[in-house]
Amino acid sequence: MVTAYLGLVKSICQIRPSAGTGIASHFPTRVDLFPLHRRCESAHLASVESYTAMLSSSSITSLRDVHTSLNFYVPVNHEEPYQYVFTPPEGIAHNNLDSEARPVVVLDVRGSESEYDLDKNGFQYVRWPSAHREFTDPETIKTKYYAEVEDLLKSVTSAKRVLLFDHTLRLSATAETLDNLGARGPVERVHVDQTYEAARARVHRHLPQDADRVLSSRVRIINVWRPIQNPVAHKPLAVCDWRTVGPDDLVSVRLIYPDREGSTFSVRHNPDMRFHYLSNQTPDEVTLIKCFDSAEDGTARLTPHSAFTDPGSPPEAPHRQSIEVRALVFDSL
Ligand code: OGA
Ligand code: FE
Repeated sequence: MVTAYLGLVKSICQIRPSAGTGIASHFPTRVDLFPLHRRCESAHLASVESYTAMLSSSSITSLRDVHTSLNFYVPVNHEEPYQYVFTPPEGIAHNNLDSEARPVVVLDVRGSESEYDLDKNGFQYVRWPSAHREFTDPETIKTKYYAEVEDLLKSVTSAKRVLLFDHTLRLSATAETLDNLGARGPVERVHVDQTYEAARARVHRHLPQDADRVLSSRVRIINVWRPIQNPVAHKPLAVCDWRTVGPDDLVSVRLIYPDREGSTFSVRHNPDMRFHYLSNQTPDEVTLIKCFDSAEDGTARLTPHSAFTDPGSPPEAPHRQSIEVRALVFDSL
């Protein structure tokens, strides 16, 4: 089954968009926004309105862009949003968050990956094969795989120092929900892992002596997200172009641990937002997800992201497995 599926992926990859009934029959729900999408990219932000109009035009069709929905934040009463990361005290709800599914077209970057980068868009796709396929031994991950990720980040960002502080293996097909944080499957909710404040606090936590000094230079938090074992067929990861995120779209959520508090951003729906993904992303291709940048000069500071359902996913394909490593990236030593 899996072998047959991989053969299918290969044959599809060799035929690029511009139609063919064979492909369309495999992915009947994909439509083509490709040519106009490219034009909008170069026209940049001024094109958001025409882009939105384009999304509602059914005459433009592509095979690779995915019509789906993403889950966005909606307020509950006027309470300050919070989420417990452990069992809350008796009588207190785990969280007070709600979400709504809104239709979104997630645009495929396959073939134009190099047009996107961390500073302009907040995300970047890099071909960086790993020596590791299995990711079963935590020690090997922390020593050998972390070393690869450090090299990758230094090479892409020219940073002087990289501190990998955490990783998550997503091996389960069961989605990680607000009420089931331990599921370690795809996260189907638009979010950013840290707020600006939590990112700075993290620098203090990991480098208590050096925090003020390193924070006087540029500090970034970047996740390195890699598929494991197979090309991603189910629940790919969508990333949002920073230039299309409005100032009111990010909602700070208190993250309550037994011994401390952090915070993450939940994300309101905004029709201007543009989401992208890399179709059939392979284990040799990583997504760099910027979660924080101390730079305030117009550089992309973060990218909201979420896993999504691709209605064209071959049902027989294996569920997605992935690893994300979280890194503090410093411009100073
Ligand atoms: C991440 C993330 C979710 C997923 O890497 O920060 O949110 O579904 N991943 O892989
Ligand atoms: Fe995340």
